Amino acid sequence: MDKIVFKKITPEEVKNFFKFFEYSIHSQFPEYSVKTRKKFTRTDYALEKLEKGLANKELAVYAAFNGNDCVGYLMASAWCGGICFINWMAVAKKFQGKGIASKLLQMCEKEAKLKGFHKFHLWTDGRNLKFYKSKGFKLIGKIPESDYGADNYLFYKTIQKPSERNFLKSTKI
Ligand SMILES: CC(C)(COP(=O)(O)OP(=O)(O)OC[C@H]1O[C@@H](n2cnc3c(N)ncnc32)[C@H](O)[C@@H]1OP(=O)(O)O)[C@@H](O)C(=O)NCCC(=O)NCCS
Repeated sequence: MDKIVFKKITPEEVKNFFKFFEYSIHSQFPEYSVKTRKKFTRTDYALEKLEKGLANKELAVYAAFNGNDCVGYLMASAWCGGICFINWMAVAKKFQGKGIASKLLQMCEKEAKLKGFHKFHLWTDGRNLKFYKSKGFKLIGKIPESDYGADNYLFYKTIQKPSERNFLKSTKI
């Protein structure tokens, strides 16, 4: 496999990652309409929002690089009560099936655990059920026509036992 470098993105590095993120949202998430995907990259997850979220540690991005090119990413955010929400994850088509997403999940889990989160929550469309199950996530069920009209399959994963000492303070990622 090409030499892939994995890292947690700093606010200063977010521009490097954003180019692939924008491409990925528009090409790898067909469950959302074109207009919705534009809203994601221009508003909800615009570059400035990501810079701010990373600086505040409300958001974390783990990314895989092939040279200067970002080829995969996982974005997670700190919810209240010890829950870490996985917002987005994708790997460039050419680099899929090489363990990149597995490694990104592993990195995020290791850090989330250290920071005191006890659960991952996420939703995905019907394509990835086997993948998340194979990574230890439990499927709760399906909400049809959910966020922005897409079907959501809800998953969670237990990282460790909940601890009051952690979840009563505002946990940052
Ligand atoms: C889902 C996705 C991120 C997986 O990335 P990846 O780097 O190819 O995953 P890995 O190489 O770490 O795969 C790990 C295992 O899951 C399997 N796998 C990967 N994607 C799968 C899928 N969609 N369905 C079933 N199995 C899958 C791999 O074959 C591999 O199996 P193995 O461990 O037995 O060899 C990637 O397919 C992708 O970017 N898809 C498009 C965007 C997307 O759907 N993102 C998730 C939305 S929440």
